[in-house]
Amino acid sequence: MDDAQGRVTKDGIRLHEAADFAGMHRAGQVAAGILDRVAALVEPGTTTEILDDFIRAEVERLGVISATIGYRGYQHASCISVNHVVCHGIPGPKVLKDGDILNIDVTVIVDGWFGDTSRMYVAGDLGRKAERLIQVTHDALMRGIEVVRPGATFGDIGNAIQTYVEANRMSVVRDFCGHGLGRVFHAAPNVLHYGRPGTGARLEEGMFFTIEPMVNLGRPETKVLADDWTAVTRDKSLSAQFEHAVGVTATGCEIFTLSPAGLFHPTWAR
Ligand code: MF3
Ligand code: CO
Ligand code: CO
Repeated sequence: MDDAQGRVTKDGIRLHEAADFAGMHRAGQVAAGILDRVAALVEPGTTTEILDDFIRAEVERLGVISATIGYRGYQHASCISVNHVVCHGIPGPKVLKDGDILNIDVTVIVDGWFGDTSRMYVAGDLGRKAERLIQVTHDALMRGIEVVRPGATFGDIGNAIQTYVEANRMSVVRDFCGHGLGRVFHAAPNVLHYGRPGTGARLEEGMFFTIEPMVNLGRPETKVLADDWTAVTRDKSLSAQFEHAVGVTATGCEIFTLSPAGLFHPTWAR
């Protein structure tokens, strides 16, 4: 099918043109570069507000647009999710303490293209359980990405992630998912981080989407706090998340949000 912007599958998933990969690459690299530079500020005693202020200043310095400020009433340049916060943590006066783990999620708009990525950080010394959680979550994302190529299905991606996480006796959050993106923030499909092989839509060259698994040490259930954003684990167990934006190529995929400085995994930054 075609619409005013080009080709769309029967599931409503946009098929982008070869030239569009460059726009997504630039946007992804801006978002990932900001996540690289905020790393030096993450330490015990700082607040999540200070981290968000830095990210906002970076967005301004680079002359790009924050996709989250003003999105459904959200007022911040990042989501910062500490410890048992699963996602959509709101930056604020909360002081980080030694051993806290946090996900920072940044989305920018560069020349109309959306760059969306998140990764884990550690304040001070990393505890053994938290380290295992972060490692498994990172590796689960990369296992999902390895599946991405034309002909695979979204269920294959979810299954690769779920199988790996559960083999490590952790759980995959069901209440939030990845998403198509491109010239819009959130589009079809919903990219589930669990599922059965061979199910769901088939991947085609030109699809752009995020994979962003949230993994809990305890049970998968979440609840959203009264602020209407902050999602936490119901059992208060630690949660971690990594997010990349990818584009399906003829033979596999391009990861738009690779870290320019090689700092995607927190232990590489230390
Ligand atoms: N960046 C998040 C995602 O991965 C969305 C954040 S929306 C916000 O989809 F409003 F909470 F910032
Ligand atoms: Co996303
Ligand atoms: Co994100």
